[in-house]
Amino acid sequence: MSSSEGGKLWGGRFVGDTDPIMEKFNASIVYDKRMWAADIQGSKAYVKALEKAGLVSRPEMEQILQGMGKVFEEWSKGTFEIKAGDEDIHTANERRLKELIGEAAGKLHTGRSRNDQVVTDMRLWLREALGTLKRNLVQLIDTMVQRADAEIDVLFPGYTHMQRAQPIRWSHWILSHVAALCRDAEKLEEVQKRVNVLPLGSGAIAGNPFQIDRELLRQELAFNAVSINSMDATGQRDFVVEFLFWASLCLTHTSRLAEDLILYSTKEFSFVSLSDAYSTGSSLMPQKKNPDSLELIRSKAGRVFGHCAGFLMTLKGLPSTYNKDLQEDKEAMFDCYDTVHAVLQVATGVMSTLKINTSAMQAALSPDMLATDLAYYLVRKGMPFREAHGCSGKAVFLAESKSVPLNQLTVEDLRTVSPLFGSDVAAVWDYGSSVEQYSAAGGTARSSVMAQIQQLRDWLSSRRATPAQTGTGPDTPSQM
Ligand code: ARG
Repeated sequence: MSSSEGGKLWGGRFVGDTDPIMEKFNASIVYDKRMWAADIQGSKAYVKALEKAGLVSRPEMEQILQGMGKVFEEWSKGTFEIKAGDEDIHTANERRLKELIGEAAGKLHTGRSRNDQVVTDMRLWLREALGTLKRNLVQLIDTMVQRADAEIDVLFPGYTHMQRAQPIRWSHWILSHVAALCRDAEKLEEVQKRVNVLPLGSGAIAGNPFQIDRELLRQELAFNAVSINSMDATGQRDFVVEFLFWASLCLTHTSRLAEDLILYSTKEFSFVSLSDAYSTGSSLMPQKKNPDSLELIRSKAGRVFGHCAGFLMTLKGLPSTYNKDLQEDKEAMFDCYDTVHAVLQVATGVMSTLKINTSAMQAALSPDMLATDLAYYLVRKGMPFREAHGCSGKAVFLAESKSVPLNQLTVEDLRTVSPLFGSDVAAVWDYGSSVEQYSAAGGTARSSVMAQIQQLRDWLSSRRATPAQTGTGPDTPSQM
């Protein structure tokens, strides 16, 4: 049903009705109602600034604050009724306020525009959401670091180009993914800084004409800074794009983690088996256990990057300041939040319940993976590496032509390649001592992996020391 324009916030100059299809097309209430708490929080702060500027009396302010309190209560209890003509959360809350307190409600929007209101709400909402994602991410990192510590003695093949490369510690592999996730957490902290800026008091484009104290607004809403330019503040969505890009990169990392694990969980590898809690069966083939959780994690990177690319296309070429195109920011932001929130929690579940098959991992190690070590043996006897690499290659060729594993070549065989080989070459054929060579910082030796774990533990405890950010009250974004 179309509603008469006279009843709309902006209805004054309109005489006809809106086409019902247009009305639906224009409305954002279906999704932006998620910001109900942020919207109320922003309005409560704004009315205080209006009172300070002398635009509403103290009793009017009290009335508006109380009315907004009631609106808050209705949303919390789930009794708030969205009505036809409630175009977005801002109009819905103000419409309800007016029903509750009458004419005084009409003063709330003095000098404010939905242009500065919507972007304030989004920043408040996203600030809370990022706090939640940060905690999810830290939990995943923590789970993986604990696992790396517990399973430090497990060795398995490391791959480059998906070919067996060198023996490594399983923990080293785990921490390789943790390193990426830590960068994501640090980048998130950067995004948080730029989200935490107050746009309210910018009006529609030109600013606020009523001596509104923006510093008071900043304090009321606990923002770190005040936006510098009203046209920019209302017309830019860089903070949304940054979040979408952040989500894309973070989920690119979880996607790569998932892909490794999917591969390792195949019968051919059998390095890991996924807990039943994170797998599903096939409706046709009874023997199958499918890694659906990991496949979905792998897939979600595409989804969030789609939002990132899509929204950047929406922004590209927009004239300055607010245009309705910007309303597209919200579904992208909400969906990215929901997706990352789910992925991080499922990934934590997968990583804490996964079982590893140490004998399959051990059995997958093969002497050819020690060909580099054979070259290093010669290097330690004084041979230049390039030459040693060639000698080791010749040994590999010799073993292949004799159809024996590399470690079955006799000392005599090896001496045909280089006279530097002696009986002590036998020590090369040990996977444990192979990994122990890599003791420089960042390597796969036990001491290096332990140092990584320690560094990550320190990193984690410094994150845990930071108190959770609060802002939009009880509406944690996960609830709505
Ligand atoms: N629902 C709108 C949005 O999400 C609110 C801002 C509308 N402003 C306007 N001038 N039409 O962007």
